[in-house]
Amino acid sequence: MPLIEAHELYRFYHVGDDETRALRGISLSVGPGEIVAVTGPSGSGKSTLLSCLTGLEEPDGGYVIVAGERITRRSEALRASIRARRFGILQQTHNLLAHLTVTENIELQMHLAGIANAGQIESLLTAVDLLHRAYGYPNELSGGEATRAGLAVAVAADPILLVADEPTAEVDRETELRLIDHFKQRRRAGKSTLFATHSEAMSGIADRVLKMRDGKLIND
Ligand SMILES: Nc1ncnc2c1ncn2[C@@H]1O[C@H](COP(=O)(O)OP(=O)(O)OP(=O)(O)O)[C@@H](O)[C@H]1O
Ligand SMILES: [Mg+2]
Repeated sequence: MPLIEAHELYRFYHVGDDETRALRGISLSVGPGEIVAVTGPSGSGKSTLLSCLTGLEEPDGGYVIVAGERITRRSEALRASIRARRFGILQQTHNLLAHLTVTENIELQMHLAGIANAGQIESLLTAVDLLHRAYGYPNELSGGEATRAGLAVAVAADPILLVADEPTAEVDRETELRLIDHFKQRRRAGKSTLFATHSEAMSGIADRVLKMRDGKLIND
């Protein structure tokens, strides 16, 4: 069974009389242990797609099934519950709660997923090279550090599906390689990862690359 299936997703934004057709009929699925990359120019709809897949945004048309359970057009409470049980999510910005330290943000995520494993926090912080910022607050972090902290939060509960929006956008080459190792390790453990990226190194490790342009997949 696919972990996530999207059927004919549409998403339109309206600002005044202007309409942006951000998603125009996108269907996809991600299976267990797969790494799938979404690529495409800025504004092609990658972030919108990831938000609709995780139920953070409701598509205007089409629907999404997560591990056999429909997430689209369900109550906010049910969507949040599916997210907590199934997903690790890294958005392009705003992944951390500002009043909690990096470690507290990770602990909160584990708590929400019903996991108590304090011993794991140190290895998570090591994987994203942030041990030295463990007790830092989000506003004290650089852009790259904030992205890596967000990623540590997203994978804290060892989710079956990690959905990450440009996880290596602001990191140096060495850190990107370390994160790539982490994604490969997830694959070996049968966990799936879907990410949007502009990085060739990142799309190079994907089992499949989905190319977007103007709200559509162009490899269909
Ligand atoms: N909340 C919003 N309101 C209005 N328009 C939006 C909104 N969010 C996104 N858009 C528009 O929808 C289109 C797709 O945006 P999206 O953020 O999905 O692109 P992207 O592929 O993730 O780009 P990038 O590579 O720059 O992150 C763009 O034209 C964008 O301006
Ligand atoms: Mg984006």
